[in-house]
Amino acid sequence: MLKGKSVLLGISGGIAAYKAAELVRLLVKEGASVQVVMTANAQRFITPLTLQVLSGQPVCTDLFDLEFESQVGHIQVARAAQLVILAPATANLLGKMAAGIADDFLTTVLLATTAPVLACPSMNAKMYENPFTQRNLEQLRNMGTHVLGPGLGTLARKEEGIGRLPELSEILESAKRILTPQTLRGKRVLVSAGPTWEHFDAVRFISNPSTGRMGYALAAVALRRGAQVDLISGPSPLCPPSGVRFHPVKSAEEMRDAVLEVAPGTDAIVMAAAVSDYRPQQVASHKLKKTGKDLEVLLVKNPDILALLGQSRGASSRPVLVGFAAETENLIENAREKLVKKNLDFIVANDLTQCGSGFACETNQVKILDRSGDITEFPCMAKEEVAVQVFDRIERLLLQETHGE
Ligand code: C5P
Repeated sequence: MLKGKSVLLGISGGIAAYKAAELVRLLVKEGASVQVVMTANAQRFITPLTLQVLSGQPVCTDLFDLEFESQVGHIQVARAAQLVILAPATANLLGKMAAGIADDFLTTVLLATTAPVLACPSMNAKMYENPFTQRNLEQLRNMGTHVLGPGLGTLARKEEGIGRLPELSEILESAKRILTPQTLRGKRVLVSAGPTWEHFDAVRFISNPSTGRMGYALAAVALRRGAQVDLISGPSPLCPPSGVRFHPVKSAEEMRDAVLEVAPGTDAIVMAAAVSDYRPQQVASHKLKKTGKDLEVLLVKNPDILALLGQSRGASSRPVLVGFAAETENLIENAREKLVKKNLDFIVANDLTQCGSGFACETNQVKILDRSGDITEFPCMAKEEVAVQVFDRIERLLLQETHGE
């Protein structure tokens, strides 16, 4: 989403200004071209040189710099921006923005730009709670400024409270959302993710190495496009994307209950969870002792959640149903069989024996099979890019329905 985008990062003079250096690095890593603009006070916390090295571009600090104005100029900087991020946005900067003041490079550019603005306030809790700051934020929101945060936590001088700069990952995610066309606005999407844990005693269970990365990427992409997203996840080390309705579960049976509760009224369901097909028949309430003999654990079948959804949908085309098929052999045959048996619109097949594909990987190499028999092969891609392909296809199906095709 940020690849090739021109992002203007405005830094004002709060202690969180030091975090802006890392934000520049992350934006550049995402492929954005970053133009840093600093207020005079920001330069007391962090030097323009640091940001210039990280962004690879001269940093704008002085509205009356004769050389810069003759070569580029502040209006050109304002015009080139496709997104403005203000991190940190101090109470002073927010106040000036709300009043329409333009008395330095940053505030002048803010008046001159037509790009969307994402303000990330960061300040002392009392300053944030002050009615003037609250009024200014309210006014800015009403005028179309996107405001993210601030967060709760430890502030400067060991004070606790509201006022922290939001996490950089959240700032990046908000930036991506602002730049994404809201093609799923008004739609409800359910995504399942992660493994399930099937206990046979109080501390041991049967599971698989799924981390939930594919499902969390799917949820993030749907959120970015404006959908209301329920993420039902087995145990995962990942943080759910902010804005998602998160339902943590452990076993396949818990996942089934959660899915069946949320499913009614959804427009699309994507089951990316690696659900255990079997669970131990007996679960000991204590930790089983070692006996010196072998231990037999009888496994019974778990419910097939996706098949249940496919059955209950019957001949209806809603919700759009998407499954994943992770295979180690006969990928296409097995995936096609699941597509038909579970009554899906399409299935995303990945070969677990391929390098860079499947569990606990950042990437996935998939093939998408649909009801018409078509197979689309994709190269090895980041899981987020796979998620983009999945929702592009879901959107096409939702559109077909709207037009009654
Ligand atoms: O049959 P198989 O487990 O390979 O099918 C994979 C697809 O079915 C995935 O989308 C997975 O989330 C879903 N599934 C399910 N309930 C199960 C097993 C798999 O919903 N018990």
